[in-house]
Parts: sequence; C-alpha cells; structure tokens
Amino acid sequence: MFPSLPSSSPLFPLCLLFFFFFLLNHSPPAAADLLYQSCGNTGNYTTNSTYASNLNILLTFLDSNTSRSGGFSNFAVGQSPNQISGLALCRGDTNASTCRSCLDTAIQDAPNLCPYDRSTVIWYDDCLLRYSNLRFLSIIDTSSSDEILMYNVNSITDPSQFNKLVGVLMNRIVDWATSNSTKMFATGEMLNYTNSPFPTIYGLAQCTRDLSRSQCRQCLTGILDPLPAVFQGKQGARVLGGSCNYRYEIYSFYEGTPTIRLQSSPEAAPASAP
Ligand SMILES: *[C@@H]1O[C@H](CO)[C@@H](O)[C@H](O)[C@H]1NC(C)=O
Ligand SMILES: *[C@@H]1O[C@H](CO)[C@@H](O)[C@H](O)[C@H]1NC(C)=O
Ligand SMILES: *[C@@H]1O[C@H](CO)[C@@H](O)[C@H](O)[C@H]1NC(C)=O
Ligand SMILES: *[C@@H]1O[C@H](CO)[C@@H](O)[C@H](O)[C@H]1NC(C)=O
Ligand SMILES: *[C@@H]1O[C@H](CO)[C@@H](O)[C@H](O)[C@H]1NC(C)=O
Ligand SMILES: *[C@@H]1O[C@H](CO)[C@@H](O)[C@H](O)[C@H]1NC(C)=O
Repeated sequence: MFPSLPSSSPLFPLCLLFFFFFLLNHSPPAAADLLYQSCGNTGNYTTNSTYASNLNILLTFLDSNTSRSGGFSNFAVGQSPNQISGLALCRGDTNASTCRSCLDTAIQDAPNLCPYDRSTVIWYDDCLLRYSNLRFLSIIDTSSSDEILMYNVNSITDPSQFNKLVGVLMNRIVDWATSNSTKMFATGEMLNYTNSPFPTIYGLAQCTRDLSRSQCRQCLTGILDPLPAVFQGKQGARVLGGSCNYRYEIYSFYEGTPTIRLQSSPEAAPASAP
C-alpha cells in the first residue's frame, strides 16, 4: 500500500514531462508516438565501425523477432569491446501488427534520436527499445536517467482517497503481473471510485522479460511505492523505466478487457460527488 506521501521525494530525480490530456479529447496517441528518449553516456561509436555493424545486426534481429515472439525479445551481438546488448518490448495489450509497426519506427528513429550513442533507451506508447555496450540483460535498470515520470496535469478532487485506491489497484495489478502472467503484464480497473462522470480508475503494469518474476516485482515496487510526490493530486500518471513501467488514468487507455476488476467499497467512495 502507499502511505501518505512526503511533500517531496528524493527517490525521483527526474526528467519530468508534463502530459497534457484533456478529458473530452483523450483519443489514444498513435502507436508510434515517441514519448521520450534517454541517450546514454557510455561513449560514442563511429560510422562503419564494428560497433555500428553490430548495432545494425541487433536492430534487425529485434525488429524481425519481437512481434513474432509475443512482444519481447533480447539479444547480444558481437564480442567485447564491440559487443552490444539489446531488447525490445511491446505493450502487453498490442497485437503483432501494432507491435511490429511501433518497433519499425523505434528502430528507424533510434540512431537519429541518439546519434552515435552506444547506449539508448526510447519509449513509445506501444513499445520500448533499449540497447547498450554494457551488459544490462537480466539486471533491473535503476538508472534515474532511464526513469521518466509523466502525469496528467488535471487535478483530482479527493487526492488522498484517490491515491489510496490507486495503491490498492496497482498492487493487485503488480501481483497478477508477477505471478499469473507469462508476459509479466496486467491491466485492471477500480470501479465506482466516485460518482463523477469518470467513475473508474484504469491501471497497467509491465516488466521486460529478461527479468525474473521476483525482479519484476522488485522493479515495479521500486517505482510505485511510494508514488512520486509529483503525482499527488493528479488524475493520471506513468513511470517509464528501462525494465518496468506502469500507468493509471481515469479513462481507458488499453485494448481489451482488464485482467482484474475491483469494486471500490461503498465506505471507500467519497460521500459526495464533485
Ligand atoms: C559523443 O558525441 C556527442 C555528440 O556528437 C559529443 O557531445 C560527446 O562529447 C561525445 N562523447 C564522447 C565520449 O566522445
Ligand atoms: C563508410 O563506408 C562506406 C562504404 O564502404 C564509404 O562510402 C564511406 O565513405 C565510409 N564512411 C566513413 C566515414 O568512413
Ligand atoms: C531473429 O531474426 C533473425 C533475422 O531475421 C533470424 O535469422 C533469427 O532466426 C531470428 N531468431 C529467432 C530466435 O527467431
Ligand atoms: C491490431 O490492433 C490495432 C489497434 O487496436 C487495430 O487497429 C488492428 O486492426 C489490429 N490488427 C489486427 C490484425 O488484429
Ligand atoms: C492468479 O489467477 C488465479 C486464477 O484466475 C486467481 O485466483 C489469483 O487471484 C491470481 N493471483 C494473483 C496474485 O492475482
Ligand atoms: C458501478 O460501476 C458499474 C460499471 O461502471 C455500474 O454499472 C454500476 O452502476 C456502478 N454502481 C454504482 C453503485 O455506482
């Protein structure tokens, strides 16, 4: 659960992005909308180098294998010091064609977004692409530069109640993702949290599948508990990490039926609607 939050949290050094979502116009962004890129600081490579050619091989592998293997793949190509490791992850609710098209875009964009950079992480709404000369596979990414916080600028009327319910919902989603899902992915809804026109909280959480289930839990717990102070009072938020991510909103933003549905108890619902 999420205890009441301090007014500022030292755990979230950040690249803050302000997310402008307007309630009456929240059509989902196109698959290939770039959310953010984190260019690394592990050195540069040059045109025509062995590293550049290993990167090309890696990107081709990720592009052709990821959508065919359920939305995740990882590879390491070449020998040190030109070895490159990489992974690609599609959001668990995307189908193979959405996954493929998101990664096509990511693979095209990456070398331009972080030119000649040996390490890069880029996030889209529907996929994540990550590569580095460091061996990062099977290790939880705790680098603060790979941790992007985004939130809906609109405020919620009853923040403490809302945060509590977000906590309950996200904990259950994490439980499911880390124990029941082969994709280490789950979505969920908290129904009737208020009587307002937006009575449901929607949530999603996912890990990259190079992690074990217990690492996945550790990763998600690390970004969820406590909720970043800047999320306090906001209608929705997400944290994008190099190994795991989550999001919650008061509108639906994922495909298909939710993995879990929770009913907020009557006493938990605010007495009067805004
Ligand atoms: C890598 O390239 C960038 C931009 O081209 C440059 O600013 C940076 O100093 C280079 N880093 C190294 C380690 O050479
Ligand atoms: C890279 O290789 C191509 C083809 O061999 C060549 O035309 C080009 O000049 C090379 N670029 C550099 C910067 O060496
Ligand atoms: C991944 O893609 C490459 C290049 O298309 C292919 O040769 C290889 O067999 C694929 N690997 C797997 C595990 O599917
Ligand atoms: C895949 O999902 C997208 C987005 O939901 C949808 O528009 C498309 O029709 C789906 N494609 C297939 C082959 O199911
Ligand atoms: C896993 O799935 C089972 C069967 O649907 C369900 O009863 C159980 O609560 C789920 N476990 C978690 C941790 O969500
Ligand atoms: C709770 O939410 C469900 C689904 O949105 C709705 O059908 C039902 O009427 C709500 N119940 C109350 C008491 O508001």
